[in-house]
Amino acid sequence: MLFAVLAVLVTAVSAWVAYGRVRSALESEFERRLARVAATAASQIEPELIHEVRARGEESAGYLSVQVQLVTLRSATGVDDASLIDSTRATLVDARSSEGVEGLASSLDSLAGPALTRALGGIPAVSEPFRRGGRALRASFAPIRSPGGAALGAVAVEAEAAYLPVLDALGRTLTAIGLVTAVAIAVLAVLIVRAATSAATLERRLSRAENLAAMGRLTATLAHEIKNPLAIIRGSAERLRMLDPEAQRMATFVIEEADRLSKTVARYLQFARVGEEPRQGGDAATALQATLDLLEGELGARGVMLERAGGLTAAPVGLDNESLKQVYLNLILNALEAMPAGGRLRIGEAERHGRIEVSIADEGAGIPPDVLRRVGSPFYTTKAQGSGLGLFLARRLVRASGGDLHIQSLEGRGTTCTVRLPRRRA
Ligand SMILES: Nc1ncnc2c1ncn2[C@@H]1O[C@H](COP(=O)(O)OP(=O)(O)OP(=O)(O)O)[C@@H](O)[C@H]1O
Ligand SMILES: [Mg+2]
Repeated sequence: MLFAVLAVLVTAVSAWVAYGRVRSALESEFERRLARVAATAASQIEPELIHEVRARGEESAGYLSVQVQLVTLRSATGVDDASLIDSTRATLVDARSSEGVEGLASSLDSLAGPALTRALGGIPAVSEPFRRGGRALRASFAPIRSPGGAALGAVAVEAEAAYLPVLDALGRTLTAIGLVTAVAIAVLAVLIVRAATSAATLERRLSRAENLAAMGRLTATLAHEIKNPLAIIRGSAERLRMLDPEAQRMATFVIEEADRLSKTVARYLQFARVGEEPRQGGDAATALQATLDLLEGELGARGVMLERAGGLTAAPVGLDNESLKQVYLNLILNALEAMPAGGRLRIGEAERHGRIEVSIADEGAGIPPDVLRRVGSPFYTTKAQGSGLGLFLARRLVRASGGDLHIQSLEGRGTTCTVRLPRRRA
């Protein structure tokens, strides 16, 4: 933003400087030429003619000679007017004699007073622009000095400051250019700020991905370290159970808890399976059947009735059977956990547009929309005992073989998870 403000300022200042240069060049050229015309005229008027014209007016010979000079000058140079003014600021002779201004106070006294005063003080001067008859004019005054050096009067030459409209047009053009530049810079700045913001967002996402990967590695190491002592604990408890019938109950607890722990550890290890070599493909239908066989007892114990629709004989997909079982197991366990008092578990199998679809629907409480947006993020869980990795892992596996996992839920009605995998061509 600072860059944009600076750029606009620099543009404005350079336009202003350029305008100033052009203006002073045009002005000084105009002043030089007008001053030269006035000086030439003044050099040709004898000082004593002023006394004569003042004393005898239009009757005098001097009047005629001065008038001829001024009229000639006017027509030769194309200036607007030329006049002779005396030290009392009255017009003695005017090139436009038809005006009948002789003897009257010169109009230039009010229009170009300061410059006239300077000239009557003996110094040639050019006035600031003034308006007359709707036009911008400037007047140049050249003093006529007595042999003693005192200014007896001055020759005034007026000309239209034709450069002023040019300057106005230039000013307008520069302002327009300045505005367009400012707008362009503002647009550019907005684009740059947007690009920078999206770069920052990308960086944040990347660093989140890096954190996740680091967390994964840490989890894997930890889980691995736990796995071996756990196996020893379990083995020892098993032996203890055989050796000492007294300790049988305790030993069974130890074994059960060790099994539970090792499942958790396996799950965390799975989480860290980043960038592993893809295994051979499997069969979506076979893996589904194997998972349901595994869970048969569990379904019965929980009062869950299984309903199946469709059914595929062969469903080759890019995901291996172990991973497929992992996916189904996570989804079915979620469904069972959503129906603690039992209910119907509906499993559908179908093939659409070259994709194998397996849907798992429960009649549980459903997922509120704000939770639905977050499920599947690693470690996001609403369960006291949950790890929040089930859906994350399932989705990652499915996506790795070109498929997707879609979760649809209606609060109070239930949830349907659909796994879609492209059929693998032989
Ligand atoms: N079928 C479902 N019905 C209702 N809520 C569900 C269902 N499946 C998932 N959820 C919600 O999604 C969350 C995340 O599920 P996910 O399977 O990833 O982790 P979890 O089940 O909490 O823990 P675990 O790692 O043991 O599976 C759950 O905590 C639950 O709130
Ligand atoms: Mg789960």
